[in-house]
Amino acid sequence: MTDLSALHDLLLAPGDLQLGEVARFFTGAFKADGSVVFVVDPTGRELHVGAAEPSSGAAERGLSIPVGYGVTGLVAQNGRAVTLVDDSPRNSAHRQLLRLGPDQTVSRMCLPARGLAPAIVAVLSIHRHRPVPFSEADLEGAQRLADLVGLRLYAQSLLGAAEEHQSERDRMIAHAISAQEAERRRIAGDLHDGVTQALVSLTFHLSAAEVGLAATREADVAAAGALVEIQSARRLAGLAYDETRAAISGLHSLTLDDLGLVAALKSLTQTVPQLDIEFRGDAADRLGDVPDHCAAVLYRIAQEAINNAVKHAEAERAVVSIRRAGDSVVLGITDDGVGFDVASVREQAPDSRGDHFGLSSIAERCALIGARLRIDSVEGRGTAVIVELRLVP
Ligand SMILES: Nc1ncnc2c1ncn2[C@@H]1O[C@H](COP(=O)(O)OP(=O)(O)OP(=O)(O)O)[C@@H](O)[C@H]1O
Ligand SMILES: [Mg+2]
Repeated sequence: MTDLSALHDLLLAPGDLQLGEVARFFTGAFKADGSVVFVVDPTGRELHVGAAEPSSGAAERGLSIPVGYGVTGLVAQNGRAVTLVDDSPRNSAHRQLLRLGPDQTVSRMCLPARGLAPAIVAVLSIHRHRPVPFSEADLEGAQRLADLVGLRLYAQSLLGAAEEHQSERDRMIAHAISAQEAERRRIAGDLHDGVTQALVSLTFHLSAAEVGLAATREADVAAAGALVEIQSARRLAGLAYDETRAAISGLHSLTLDDLGLVAALKSLTQTVPQLDIEFRGDAADRLGDVPDHCAAVLYRIAQEAINNAVKHAEAERAVVSIRRAGDSVVLGITDDGVGFDVASVREQAPDSRGDHFGLSSIAERCALIGARLRIDSVEGRGTAVIVELRLVP
């Protein structure tokens, strides 16, 4: 019985399967003179040499066999193992790989390495120069082992595809968040350059009209009525101006663009006169490199959590903190207010939530950037929203 511990260790080793070691294992286990591991490429049309024992650099790189062509290509196509006696491959790179002189032949076993049906992920070719053909028992035993190699390669390719999808997904999310921020920036810019400027000049004209009318004779009842109207129009224009400014700063933080997350969070805490908010932040260089789209997400989360503290908590004090902890960045927004029953709010089905989007949007944003969210709230004691984002080195 072959000692399987070497193969077992190879199959369970982390990272990509060491194909050279696999070829060495099969050569030794079947008393052969060499082995070649042919790998089916992702298109499923060609076989390339993954490794050969003994190794022969140039020939390995130069050899590719179309699936369905020659004995090896047929095994990759129909998945049936074969033994060959006096085999003499025509392809010169293949002959070189098997170290065959012009008239030499070999005994070979060609085995499909199957992933999950119907995928054949590789072909193992094991050869002897001596005229000692491989037996049926050799073929059967080798096929079982080849399938273990096939499953391992299959799992490896699935893992690779999953990782590729994951990084594609991360790229798309980063792109979507950046596009959303750019759109907010554009709307804020348009509001600033268009609406607020118009409101400023409207207020200016109304003030001028007010001054003009005030100078007319007091006995003029019509003029006095118009004056009252103009005064209230000017007040409304002032209100509209204030609201537009507030909307602009809610839409987009210039500080975030220019000075980064720590400064933006600090300035956010200073724009909430309704609540006494303390800011505790690590210096930006200690915090580490938070990708732009993640910084935008953390900023929006802080904005919503502060809004909630102002709207619902009846708090006296709040603390906003941003700190580095190990390889993570931790954002915290805590208040000493009335607290609430987190589970019952979060368990509400989306369509029965009515107009309450804040907490679910916090949870969605965390999921988008792969951050961990914890909301702790004790009735009568206050609420803590904690977001932990692992920074990928
Ligand atoms: N800091 C807090 N203190 C007390 N209650 C809170 C706090 N944060 C959230 N809540 C409770 O959880 C509910 C849901 O909050 P959520 O932010 O999802 O919605 P909202 O603030 O009511 O509306 P929206 O955020 O969509 O404007 C709130 O209505 C409130 O009852
Ligand atoms: Mg809210």
